[in-house]
Amino acid sequence: MARDGAVYACQSCGALQTRWSGQCPACGAWNSLVEEQGSRPPGALKLTKPTRKVHLAFEGLDETTPAPPRIATGVDEWDRVCGGGVVPGSAILVGGDPGVGKSTLLLQVAASAARSGARCAYISGEEAVEQVRARAQRMGLADATVKLAAETSLRAILDGLKAEPFDLVVIDSIQTMWSDAHEAGPGSVTQVRAAAQELVRLAKKRGMAVVLVGHVTKEGAIAGPRVVEHMVDAVFSFEGERGYPFRILRGAKNRFGATDEIGVFEMGDRGLAEVKNPSALFLNTSGQRAAGAAVFAGIEGSRPVLVEIQALVAPSAYGTPRRAVVGWDSGRLAMVLAVLEARCGLSFGDRDVYLNVAGGLRISEPAADLAAAAALASSAFDQALPQDCVVFGEISLSGDVRSVSRMDGRLKEAAKLGFRRALGPTDAEAPAGLRLTGAHRLADAVQRISDGGWD
Ligand code: TYD
Ligand code: MG
Repeated sequence: MARDGAVYACQSCGALQTRWSGQCPACGAWNSLVEEQGSRPPGALKLTKPTRKVHLAFEGLDETTPAPPRIATGVDEWDRVCGGGVVPGSAILVGGDPGVGKSTLLLQVAASAARSGARCAYISGEEAVEQVRARAQRMGLADATVKLAAETSLRAILDGLKAEPFDLVVIDSIQTMWSDAHEAGPGSVTQVRAAAQELVRLAKKRGMAVVLVGHVTKEGAIAGPRVVEHMVDAVFSFEGERGYPFRILRGAKNRFGATDEIGVFEMGDRGLAEVKNPSALFLNTSGQRAAGAAVFAGIEGSRPVLVEIQALVAPSAYGTPRRAVVGWDSGRLAMVLAVLEARCGLSFGDRDVYLNVAGGLRISEPAADLAAAAALASSAFDQALPQDCVVFGEISLSGDVRSVSRMDGRLKEAAKLGFRRALGPTDAEAPAGLRLTGAHRLADAVQRISDGGWD
């Protein structure tokens, strides 16, 4: 298998190997090694002697560092995820499925920043300038002074960016860029890494912020090596379920801000509209809440978000019952089902279980456990929860309901949206106008749902 000089790059982690194998020895990914033309074999790097003496200067922890300046782009949902605006000289990677709206979002961000006085460029390697311009005009951005270019040659882009000062540059996308210093094809690990490295280096040197757009593989990782994620200061993912207009910008890494912040947008025919108050967005407000539905009082970043969790428990037609979940972790569903079986006497062994988070939102908070369990129990007993009830709480393997963070914020938001009742951990304190049904154990909550006795 090994040929002289052949180099294999892992498409997942970017590690280089001199021989092919089915599994990457560096990250353990299967079938990820692809031969790359023009890469330098590992170990071929020669260290050059330093030409001057370098002194290492230490500093104290107590010295003050001024907060980094920020470019407020005016797209508040974007700025919040950044941690209060884009930091000059920083590099941001934005990943997402094809068609989710990455180009639309970044064109809007660039246009809005340009309107606030920043010098912005949008370089597309995927579309012609006419296409980008036509889209901008349709979105009502024609007056913004964003400089457009369609280019894939890294050398041309670097030269262009060196010739003119910019505050914010969007590269759409990093996978289309290629450097003539490497023989590997565009989109290969070597090319993506080289392009990202050069662009990040230039950004740091010039104090210009650079946003790299990255495609996402079927497995959900940003295609190309993970080394790109290490090179940049922030990694955001832009998510949305097909068929829903809502799009969520989520921070996965951020050197200049918190990563639990989300930005919510709605895709319309004039681009993305910001959703400033998303708390009621994912609620089904039309009609009665049926059996199998529970409203989860969640927190996304700094904001409370109420969202309906829907469950369907149905007799299984086949030997192996189905478990399908959208918007939540399937491992978490398996755990909640196991606790419901072991601690509450419910049986799901011969039943199919479907769980869906309404509106295309993805929930990762453990606080959603009790809401999911309540939806499952409600469907299993065919007993609807009260219309005006929100649910939250973490479930432990022993069947206890544990308290969660920010209970006050969750309950206040629920009260504000007209909910009058909450099912949650016992130590929560309900604000005026809201009655809390505290459950020590999941079995207590399940008992109440099966009896329908809420008063
Ligand atoms: P795009 O930004 O090209 O996605 P990406 O860069 O992530 O591949 O968005 C493409 C989708 O967005 C396309 O299916 C059409 C839709 N869209 C709208 O619905 N309204 C609009 O105003 C725009 C510009 C796009
Ligand atoms: Mg695009």
